[in-house]
Amino acid sequence: MAENTDIAKLTLKGKTYDLPVHSPTGGPDVIDIRKLYGQADVFTYDPGFTSTAACDSTITFIDGDKGVLLHRGYPIDQLAGKSHYLEVCYLLLYGELPSAEKLEEFESLVTNHTMIHEQMHNFFRGFRRDAHPMATMVGVVGAMSAFYHDSTDINDPHQREVATIRLIAKMPTVAAMAYKYSIGQPFVYPRNDLDYAANFLHMCFAVPAQEYNVNPILARAMDRIFTLHADHEQNASTSTVRLASSSGANPFACIAAGIACLWGPAHGGANQACLEMLKEIGTVDRIPEFIARAKDKNDSYRLMGFGHRVYKNFDPRATVMKESADEVLDLMGIENNPILQVAKELEKQALADPYFAEKKLFPNVDFYSGIILEAMGFPTSMFTPIFALARTVGWISQWSEQLADPQLKIGRPRQLYLGEMQRDYVDIEKR
Ligand code: CMC
Repeated sequence: MAENTDIAKLTLKGKTYDLPVHSPTGGPDVIDIRKLYGQADVFTYDPGFTSTAACDSTITFIDGDKGVLLHRGYPIDQLAGKSHYLEVCYLLLYGELPSAEKLEEFESLVTNHTMIHEQMHNFFRGFRRDAHPMATMVGVVGAMSAFYHDSTDINDPHQREVATIRLIAKMPTVAAMAYKYSIGQPFVYPRNDLDYAANFLHMCFAVPAQEYNVNPILARAMDRIFTLHADHEQNASTSTVRLASSSGANPFACIAAGIACLWGPAHGGANQACLEMLKEIGTVDRIPEFIARAKDKNDSYRLMGFGHRVYKNFDPRATVMKESADEVLDLMGIENNPILQVAKELEKQALADPYFAEKKLFPNVDFYSGIILEAMGFPTSMFTPIFALARTVGWISQWSEQLADPQLKIGRPRQLYLGEMQRDYVDIEKR
């Protein structure tokens, strides 16, 4: 933290309290209110954490006004263009880009941990076939704590490292198995000769009856989708992982909590909701009707894939995703895809509309990702599991950072209580 001699002053009931101010390496200054309750007997009130920093971190930086996203200082467009997912995983976890030797070591470690305990196959079979793959993932990832006892002791750095590698390595296997189970096909085991993204595509689309060769361009597009979702600082699911872990919970339980939070349509579930919305719109002539609904104060309808808590200019991930959508559709020979046309026209019309301009609402990462995933052959129900597998490295990097922080305390927000104060119990016959 950079030194800051500024002091914020809070005057309350005739008394003034000095609050230290911290300067981050990037972003706005932060007023430190940790001692406020002890000194002034007041809480601060900030539902949705719109103005509250819950931790310090060195992993990811976002400047929402400028549309900047940096992982350990490196811009996302450079990482998406020049790097690849496992290298970005290394960067997020260890803070620096790896040497060629370190990268090879890391890739080999991940590749050699992609299989899951054979007994876990039975666990999958306990679910209904029509379960949403996210429901299966929440259950199976939580259940990993029942299978990998030798990596649940969070006080042992070696066990933490083993859990980290296991989660990154096994998450594609779990997501692919959830998919295969939902469509009634046999599970496909991971293959060590394929890279991370190609292996995932293989586990999703290969069948024992026929050879399946992964298209390297699709594997590259898949890898880029993983990279674009790898981390996003203190978003809802990451904060959920941090909060769960602050009690000392094991890593698999914490990541399961993150998956549960990600599922919501305001967060990772938006990629599924967005493609469903684009399909519901169907043709460009219906766009004005949907824009009108999104603007209507009396209608809770929102344009999915639009808006972001932090980005107020553009989402740099959406820019790369849009390029990828064109590339993948081209490759698949899908010309004049009506959904892509609706998406591009919707983006154009919404951006030209004063409602969206005034509220600074722009397409986010989820706006174009569904179009790519559908062109690759994924059903909408797999969109959020793919987000979850890609975000696992972000969750686990933030989890690791938190556990190494000597200031770690259990997360315990306060409340503004507006309920009844003490009253006497009334016997049932007198109510
Ligand atoms: N369509 C129409 N109006 C919107 C939208 C939208 N997509 N998003 C926000 N608004 C309006 C909202 O009604 C509010 O208006 P008013 O000030 O008149 O009440 C204003 O814009 C501010 O919205 P907010 O809900 O207070 O903003 P937030 O920061 O709490 O919410 C958000 C951010 C992403 C949850 C929200 O923009 C949204 O629901 N978007 C659609 C879902 C979506 O695409 N989520 C994916 C986010 S990116 C992937 C990820 O990181 O998970």
